[in-house]
Amino acid sequence: MTTSADTHDSIRAVQWQGDHLRLLDQRLLPGEERWIDCRDAAQVTQAIRDLAVRGAPAIGIAAAWGVAMAAQQGVPLEPVLAQLRAARPTAVNLMWALDRMKKRIAAGADAGALLHEAQLIQDEDLAANRRMGELGAALIAPGSGVLTHCNTGSLATAGYGTALGVIRAGVAANRIARVYAGETRPWQQGARLTMWELVREGIPARLIADSAAAHLMKSGAVQWVIVGADRIAANGDTANKIGTYQLAISAKYHGVKFMVVAPSSTVDMATANGEEIEIELRDPAELLSSGGRRVVVEGAQAWNPVFDVAPAELIDAIVTERGVIERPDTLSMQALFGH
Ligand code: MRU
Repeated sequence: MTTSADTHDSIRAVQWQGDHLRLLDQRLLPGEERWIDCRDAAQVTQAIRDLAVRGAPAIGIAAAWGVAMAAQQGVPLEPVLAQLRAARPTAVNLMWALDRMKKRIAAGADAGALLHEAQLIQDEDLAANRRMGELGAALIAPGSGVLTHCNTGSLATAGYGTALGVIRAGVAANRIARVYAGETRPWQQGARLTMWELVREGIPARLIADSAAAHLMKSGAVQWVIVGADRIAANGDTANKIGTYQLAISAKYHGVKFMVVAPSSTVDMATANGEEIEIELRDPAELLSSGGRRVVVEGAQAWNPVFDVAPAELIDAIVTERGVIERPDTLSMQALFGH
């Protein structure tokens, strides 16, 4: 039976095949829908590092399957855990999923139990996304416009999405009347992936240049900025795709509300604040080229941080599957997530 939660939700980019992991290669979208078969943990690590699979929850899920596959193959697990952990530094879901697998290994879990754990991690993420969709959509007044950033949909998660899940639910409930997505330079997750998902799922949306965001807010067309997260610190400071910080500042200036949507696996209570979050620096070549073609003069240099931190004071609501925290701070975060 199709439920309202299933509408506009058909993409599953991370698929366990019984003895290997199949990933939709996000580097080729929207031009080509090609699948990669990862047959060992090293291939999963490479897929995470090279952004074939990306998005905080999705990389955690892929890593969990990488560990389970290694166990199935009888490979020593300590080096596999270390290799996967080093694949990318900012999204804590990766470390969270690996710690969860490590705990099961320490408790003597066999390959079957580790496969079960990876499946649980994946299933729980989908359920969390659907719950966050309901909770987040309920905050939005009917007829609102929203702006999102990066890709936070089915491609970036087990399915449905975080911020994009709220958008799916908000559109289905007739609360969201207009959807805008920023391009998300340099990798263009918004242009290449979010627009692909939205068009494919039949959700009307308009792409904007990242640099059009303040102008859009000034026009009055959007009432909420809705983004995902790669790591939420204990005081509510939130690391997310580069450009999120400037959206939060702009939103505050224009009286537009700012919502962060992320499962509890993205919350890192061991990190006191955003200053302590490692921000991934990627190859400057990602900035110097577009669509595989060099667009900047030879000899030019670039700086390419791919995440930034929106301070808690600029965030109106953090939506998790455990509940909503309005105007987050250390106390309200501790009330929901402990110490
Ligand atoms: O570098 P990426 O594409 O892995 O970055 C992804 C993001 O920043 C997303 O917005 C994010 O992970 C949040 S929720 C799925």
